[in-house]
Amino acid sequence: MAQILSLLVTIFLALASSGRCSNVYSRKDFPEGFAFGAGASAYQWEGAVNEDGRKPSVWDTLVHSRNTSNGDITCDGYHKYKEDVQLMVETGLNAYRFSISWSRLIPNGRGHVNPKGLQFYKNFIQQLVNHGIEPHVTLYHDDHPQSIEDEYGGWLNRRMIKDFTAYADVCFREFGSNVKFWTTINEANIYSIGGYGNGFTPPGRCSPPGCSSGNSSTEPYIVGHNLLLAHASVSRLYKRKYKDIQGGSVGISIFLLGFKPSTSSKDDELALQRAKAFYFGWILGPLTFGDYPDEMKTAVGLRLPVFSEEESEQVKGSSDFIGIMQYLAATVANMKSKPSHPDFDSDMGAFVNLIGNYSAFNEKYAVVPWAMEAVLDHIKQSYGNPPLYILENDLQDTPRIEYLQAYIGAVLKSIRNGSNTRGYFVWSFMDLFELLTGYDYSYGLYSVNFSDPHRKRSPKLSAHWYSAFLKGNTIFLGSQDIAQLQSDFSSSS
Ligand SMILES: *[C@@H]1O[C@H](CO)[C@@H](O)[C@H](O)[C@H]1NC(C)=O
Ligand SMILES: *[C@@H]1O[C@H](CO)[C@@H](O)[C@H](O)[C@H]1NC(C)=O
Ligand SMILES: *[C@@H]1O[C@H](CO)[C@@H](O)[C@H](O)[C@H]1NC(C)=O
Ligand SMILES: *[C@@H]1O[C@H](CO)[C@@H](O)[C@H](O)[C@H]1NC(C)=O
Ligand SMILES: *[C@@H]1O[C@H](CO)[C@@H](O)[C@H](O)[C@H]1NC(C)=O
Repeated sequence: MAQILSLLVTIFLALASSGRCSNVYSRKDFPEGFAFGAGASAYQWEGAVNEDGRKPSVWDTLVHSRNTSNGDITCDGYHKYKEDVQLMVETGLNAYRFSISWSRLIPNGRGHVNPKGLQFYKNFIQQLVNHGIEPHVTLYHDDHPQSIEDEYGGWLNRRMIKDFTAYADVCFREFGSNVKFWTTINEANIYSIGGYGNGFTPPGRCSPPGCSSGNSSTEPYIVGHNLLLAHASVSRLYKRKYKDIQGGSVGISIFLLGFKPSTSSKDDELALQRAKAFYFGWILGPLTFGDYPDEMKTAVGLRLPVFSEEESEQVKGSSDFIGIMQYLAATVANMKSKPSHPDFDSDMGAFVNLIGNYSAFNEKYAVVPWAMEAVLDHIKQSYGNPPLYILENDLQDTPRIEYLQAYIGAVLKSIRNGSNTRGYFVWSFMDLFELLTGYDYSYGLYSVNFSDPHRKRSPKLSAHWYSAFLKGNTIFLGSQDIAQLQSDFSSSS
């Protein structure tokens, strides 16, 4: 680590003296208390799926039914958490984001709390806190207990609100003295589309024949609605029972794209407005104003659930902060067709084309930091400038340093322009079992040897870069320098 660090610093000094560093920033430029971290989620990192009383979640069921790779062992974080906290300390993280597996803590979804699951999370959280790393905990990351799905259909049923709130109650009671940042739902908007609109992600529902069961015209909106109500219920519980004593905050997270219109035509401009309403406004509209955006109500009509007056009051203002997943930029073009079985895209009436030839199964992301600035600026201007945490932002290693320095720089620019962003988390701390791509693509700052029974972790060059940045070194490299550094690093390790 030390050698690489000195190499980075040397290169920086060489660049600085050659006058090529116009955009240099360092950690000290960020506001006091700004959190820099990295993250992972339970199913993607823990493994030990059948151990110590854990029962399957819908994520286990989906990957096993598809007979693809799975998270049965993955990084084996359940057994290796102490080692991983040590790596976090060495990297210099001051915050770590992870999720709790509901079916490890409460295997049947409600009732009996599993003492071994409880002990695992207590130990892990204590380990983080003992090392000065602030835990940011997500309650729901695509993995509700299969028993609840079987019993009443999970998020399609309002009964879920009560069970989710009871699960959150256990988490607040047991972990809340050490946890101040709670995110209820991971990527509420994209979870509803992926799990119930196109079926790519758990629980894998969409209209047949794409999926064995589901209804892409109705279910994403029902689920989105129930997620918002469940979030509001959990937030209310926290305020009533825990906030005074524990002093933490409760937020929700959403996935956002940086949009620009495909052409300057009126139609594409209007399509852009609808895309913003469907991606940002679906969740942020109810949280900020107590209702869905007009563009959505008009387009979705009777298929969009309606908030009662009381629900609207409960949802409005129920998020202390918004977590943001921001990786990509897209152009938006008007879609004219109105199919007989409408879905999210046709309701939106827009083609969203990702910039940089990205597809769900190819994560060579374009480096488009303006997308980050556009997202942060839109939230600032249209949704009352709430506190924001950037919870996921990353890609594969080779162009990653370029990407990280560009996006962290974009975040800094947005803060200087008034955005209330308070933290930045790299996705992911180490290579994981990925939601769409299994082990085929890796996002980690640390690589994991998944053929090694000990699941050995090794720092990638980006871990060194991030660590140097976190330790206060001003490092800003051009893409040629990064390529050179990468090749030196590969030949030395
Ligand atoms: C799962 O995949 C393995 C290896 O490709 C194959 O041998 C097995 O028959 C498959 N099982 C099912 C249920 O499709
Ligand atoms: C989805 O639900 C709507 C409204 O109940 C219904 O009209 C439509 O036929 C359903 N579509 C499918 C594919 O089941
Ligand atoms: C995207 O793909 C097209 C066709 O394969 C190619 O011509 C173009 O150069 C690619 N663009 C980028 C940014 O990689
Ligand atoms: C900076 O903020 C102003 C006012 O909120 C806004 O008009 C402008 O577009 C922002 N600039 C950028 C680059 O986001
Ligand atoms: C991964 O682990 C396997 C089994 O221990 C070993 O044979 C292989 O060389 C390791 N791969 C790397 C890249 O270290």
